[in-house]
Amino acid sequence: MHHFAMKRGEMVCEGVPLGRIADAVGTPVYVYSHATLSHHYGVFDRVFSGTPHLICYSMKANPNGSIIRTFTNLGSGVDIVSGGELSRALAAGTPPSKIVYSGVGKMEWEIEEALRRGILMFNVESRQELETIDAIARKMRRRAPIALRVNPDVDPKTHPYISTGLKKNKFGIHIDQAIRDYEWAARRRHIEVVGVDCHIGSQLTEISPFVDAAGRVRALVDRLIRKGLDIRFVDIGGGLGITYEDEIPPDPRQYADAIAGAFRGLPVTIILEPGRVLVGNAGVLLTRMLYTKPSQEGAGKGKKQFFIVDAAMNDLARPSLYGSYHAIVPVTKRTRRKVVADVVGPICESGDFLARDRELPAFAAGDLVAVMSAGAYGFSMSSTYNSRPRAAEVMVSGSRFEVVREREPLRDLTRGERTASFLSRRGRTT
Ligand code: LLP
Repeated sequence: MHHFAMKRGEMVCEGVPLGRIADAVGTPVYVYSHATLSHHYGVFDRVFSGTPHLICYSMKANPNGSIIRTFTNLGSGVDIVSGGELSRALAAGTPPSKIVYSGVGKMEWEIEEALRRGILMFNVESRQELETIDAIARKMRRRAPIALRVNPDVDPKTHPYISTGLKKNKFGIHIDQAIRDYEWAARRRHIEVVGVDCHIGSQLTEISPFVDAAGRVRALVDRLIRKGLDIRFVDIGGGLGITYEDEIPPDPRQYADAIAGAFRGLPVTIILEPGRVLVGNAGVLLTRMLYTKPSQEGAGKGKKQFFIVDAAMNDLARPSLYGSYHAIVPVTKRTRRKVVADVVGPICESGDFLARDRELPAFAAGDLVAVMSAGAYGFSMSSTYNSRPRAAEVMVSGSRFEVVREREPLRDLTRGERTASFLSRRGRTT
């Protein structure tokens, strides 16, 4: 469900025509619907209402402050994976007591800062990390609340780059070794064992991997509780998929029933780290057609087209990186004539495409196009490759829209750069 729709021949986000945003802010621009964000959060929260739970929005999906604040205003916490995310989360008003910190490579300064701020828990991914956290907590005279991120060795059946719960992945501690590390942690004065954590992957479209992982985690929690550990939180990660093309992901209620069912009867709060399912379909990337040209491949009438738009792989990396599908939709109604085309950006790489061999309306230069379902891992994975300033971001609420991040000014492309003093200044004209 989302609030982007065709109304009187033009695509609107809630009550705002996308054309108006493009005219005011320029393109490329990410547009987010506040109503969709709130709706998604509400649904996710409601399906877990029968179970003590805490939603920790996985902000790597989209770290814009207005997005984080939308969720924290609704009671959400945040799942972070870096000191940078910690600082953004705090700036957006997230209470530290609702922040969980995952990631295989936490650095000392990051651990110190998280401890100083008093986050809810560290999701620890290795014995060495555990030892480092212990040493830092001792030095700071604190107790670090921890969960171990266990790797349940479950195949999430998703793209290999975003599957995390298999033995061969770098994430977590193998579930069979976890008991030993828990016993070690429980003996440390500066560590407080509070939970168990697990995250098996992203864009899951089947329920069974969640069920398998939750079952294995439950067995571990039972063992830990029998050993006398005070497990108060079970963090089951994120990963629930969305529809980009024709996927049919599990219904949130089905997902909640599976998770809540697995931990029934335990005196724990379930932590959830949804990212994509909250923001994915709440955002589009709005881009304008710069040029069209026939491909040199083939000949005659059926010839493929190139549609060259002003957004590129630096703005939305997912198609180039994972071959992912994003629907490409005209913002204003067009001729019914269809052509087969690659939608490509201005970047100097043949891997720079937003869609390939796609049947699309016969677009013309100047047309506005919406790249759908771009709210998650869109802006957050964008870069300035080819020295392209990052896109602006806009949030819509009802009939209002506001820029929630300005287009990156050109001067910021060289911010922090210095010319090395040993470089000759000869040849300068001024
Ligand atoms: N928790 C942890 C520990 C994670 O690593 C992730 C995502 C999440 C939660 C949130 O997962 P979600 O609910 O969004 O599936 N760039 C890729 C996705 C990478 C996901 C990384 N981890 C993409 O564009 O598909």
